[in-house]
Amino acid sequence: MQGFILKGFRDYASRRFGTDVVKDVFEGSSIGGDRRLAAWDYVGPDEFSSVIERLAQQTGTTRSDLLIRFGEVMFQTLINLPLRQQRCLTLFRYLESIETGFCQELDELVPRLEFPGLACCRLGETTLEMVYASPLQLGDLAEGLIRGSILHFAEPVTLERFDDAADPARVRFVLTRE
Ligand code: HEM
Repeated sequence: MQGFILKGFRDYASRRFGTDVVKDVFEGSSIGGDRRLAAWDYVGPDEFSSVIERLAQQTGTTRSDLLIRFGEVMFQTLINLPLRQQRCLTLFRYLESIETGFCQELDELVPRLEFPGLACCRLGETTLEMVYASPLQLGDLAEGLIRGSILHFAEPVTLERFDDAADPARVRFVLTRE
């Protein structure tokens, strides 16, 4: 996992809970104390997980709530990355182009990226399915990012989520335009 996710999470948590709480939680992590972490430095997924668990315990929130709400905010970072890939005008086109457009372009720029699968399929004129698949099992973060994209495009779309009890690494999302 890339450093920008952990750094973005720390910024988000500082705004929501204050810098004192966050300082304790991040103590001992790659960005605790005076350590500097570059956006594209590698951070082990276990480290991200343990920071989230500690913050959830300390603030009485849930891991899910933290990840979903962070995802909504993180979407703004992703959509503002200066990439060649053309901006899409509609939400569905945008989501469909992530796996084949943005991710491939970034792959050429930054080595060792590990993107989740984000396969899209039109189920009808007004319905899009997106299947998140990743060994990191961050379906909550994926939900937050999708929610962030819906807010960004400001289209009247409802989101449904279907977890796979047999496979926690896979979550199916269905977006329906009203
Ligand atoms: C709303 C759509 C999106 C969803 C649901 C999504 C989901 C995720 C999730 C859950 C992760 C954490 C890693 C994992 O679970 O395996 C991730 C990582 C990442 N995503 Fe996305 N993403 C979206 C859009 C984008 C866009 C538009 C970009 C690029 C412009 C992007 C670039 C990245 C990068 C660079 C990483 C880090 C990969 C790594 O750590 O090696 N994502 N994404």
